[in-house]
Amino acid sequence: MNENQPTREKLFSVSHRVDAAQRTRRNRHRGGILWLTGLSASGKSTLAVELELALFGMGCQVFMLDGDNVRHGLSADLGFSPADRAENIRRVGEVAALFAEAGTIVIAAFISPYRTDRDRIRARHPDYFHEIYLDAPIEVCERRDPKGLYRQARAGSLKEFTGVSAPYEPPFSPHLTIHTGAQTVDQSVKSLIDYVERRLRT
Ligand SMILES: Nc1ncnc2c1ncn2[C@@H]1O[C@H](COP(=O)(O)OP(=O)(O)O)[C@@H](O)[C@H]1O
Ligand SMILES: [Mg+2]
Repeated sequence: MNENQPTREKLFSVSHRVDAAQRTRRNRHRGGILWLTGLSASGKSTLAVELELALFGMGCQVFMLDGDNVRHGLSADLGFSPADRAENIRRVGEVAALFAEAGTIVIAAFISPYRTDRDRIRARHPDYFHEIYLDAPIEVCERRDPKGLYRQARAGSLKEFTGVSAPYEPPFSPHLTIHTGAQTVDQSVKSLIDYVERRLRT
């Protein structure tokens, strides 16, 4: 702990005078975090982009947070070791929760391979966190390989690559599972929209 930082006992939280119910009434949906987890090429970014567009068109407050995007800024100082991945996911979880508190539906697209990292967000923000598992066999993901990363990982030129040289721990009890290896993009987007209608619309 940096000695120039205030200790937590000296922090005084300020209360809002706009509450969650007012935001929900205006937006006609609750805020929440749709946390998409899955292997590289399982379809996180594709579905996040399409779902953001669809929900925006339906009048929702929605914002996508994507793994590759935050690594240029918020997490530019972090690498891919387990400790750095944990810190990346912790930061993103807290940012996503702030957006959700502001009333936004956040679509978070992060491999987030470690169960404990995801469970920590769920434990801190149980009302917001919706864990959505994009379940596609690694063979399918590797065949797709839209960024050529599996090829590099197999060749040994990319270290600590999830599914090849680093683990992926699937969720034990996700709120929703989407079989992106067996469905079209449109079918998967429809399942996500249905979920939002059921769980976040008021
Ligand atoms: N049902 C589906 N859902 C998502 N992507 C799919 C689906 N079916 C095929 N794809 C294809 O799989 C690839 C997924 O890549 P991407 O979205 O970049 O994955 P990730 O962000 O998880 O690494 C894209 O080329 C996409 O067109
Ligand atoms: Mg992606």
